[in-house]
Amino acid sequence: MSTKLTINNNGSVKIEGDFEIVDMQGNNYGLQGRTVVSICRCGLSANKPFCDGSHRGHFEHEAIAFDLPPRKFNTTPNPPLREGFIVIYKPYI
Ligand code: FES
Repeated sequence: MSTKLTINNNGSVKIEGDFEIVDMQGNNYGLQGRTVVSICRCGLSANKPFCDGSHRGHFEHEAIAFDLPPRKFNTTPNPPLREGFIVIYKPYI
């Protein structure tokens, strides 16, 4: 099963499908079997990262999908290669 994120107008991001949510240390939030949760994107929830409905009347954003600009890649000249090193090209986000 894939994961679907829906950006709701004036509110949360709904996540449904196969997913896990972890903190910065990699610890899982216990979802107790939920396959659908809403993540706060207004910053007002008292239960972050989950939406608690506090956005109502306090957050406006009409969610209309659009295409991001093309990805940019690091074009700086390569440093001299040394034997035994692995070169990883990191794209700009
Ligand atoms: S999006 Fe619902 S409380 Fe922030």
